[in-house]
Amino acid sequence: MRIRKAVIPAAGLGTRMLPITKSMPKEMLSIVDRPVIHYVVEEAIKAEIDDILIITGKGKRAIEDYFDRSFELEYYLREKGKIEELRQIKEIGEMVDIYYVRQKKPLGLGDAILHAEKHVNGEPFAVLLGDDIIISDKPAIGQLIEVAERRNSPVLGVEHVPHELVNKYGIIGGEKIENDLYRIKTLIEKPAPEEAPSNIAIIGRYVLTPDVFDALRETPPGKGGEIQLIDALRTLLNKKEIFARIIAGERYDVGSRVGFIRANIELSLTRKELRSEVIELMERILREVLDG
Ligand code: UTP
Repeated sequence: MRIRKAVIPAAGLGTRMLPITKSMPKEMLSIVDRPVIHYVVEEAIKAEIDDILIITGKGKRAIEDYFDRSFELEYYLREKGKIEELRQIKEIGEMVDIYYVRQKKPLGLGDAILHAEKHVNGEPFAVLLGDDIIISDKPAIGQLIEVAERRNSPVLGVEHVPHELVNKYGIIGGEKIENDLYRIKTLIEKPAPEEAPSNIAIIGRYVLTPDVFDALRETPPGKGGEIQLIDALRTLLNKKEIFARIIAGERYDVGSRVGFIRANIELSLTRKELRSEVIELMERILREVLDG
């Protein structure tokens, strides 16, 4: 199988980042000078995805505007001779074919993915959550696609988390079959540390096959009335093999406050033109804080 379509669910309410998310989608929060979702789309493009469906919802229009062409702004920048800025914003409007579908009510990640069924049209597809940035040499989703294409099966992106934090994640239990690759045996949502089969947690990257839609339809709403993707994957696990691949890379959960702040600091350090100024700034702040 060949994977060329990606789905980016971005219809959640982002309650962990309130109050900013009252009027601003969390996917549009700025990391240095570009929104979170820009990094996510870039990752998909690097993995040779050429068709992206973004699941949006109420109050998410800013996402569509961001990836659209802005002829007024282009005209203004051309008039002012701001050629580099012009190049940058034109590039965003031309990145890849992006389509949108609205989830009318935020009924969970599983429900959001169900909205992609028509668009993916029977093909396997990648899923990248709109609030996880992963920086790596080989794009995180590409690492999963490589396994999915070879094994003809769904693959979940995972990472090791500290044992005391397993109750914040979906956790897998499984058998290691290759370096960094597991055949999944069990899937448990947010287990207590003493009940967790491992400390291997599902993070925001997946490759799914179209049979996930039937499994989602069979899944009754779970916690908070939401349809949980992990419940559908458990149903699917009774019928077929599902793999988990430890993702090589640095992940930033920008849907949480500390993750967001960390992403801004660390990603500013990866920018040549900002690096030395930011280091100086941090040194000064730390000195002041530590000197009391
Ligand atoms: P999260 O649970 O992290 O998102 O969902 P949330 O509900 O927006 O965040 P909090 O917990 O209230 O702060 C993971 C991903 O699934 C999407 C979110 O946009 C996010 O990318 N999602 C979630 C949907 O698209 N629809 C939903 O109904 C729920």
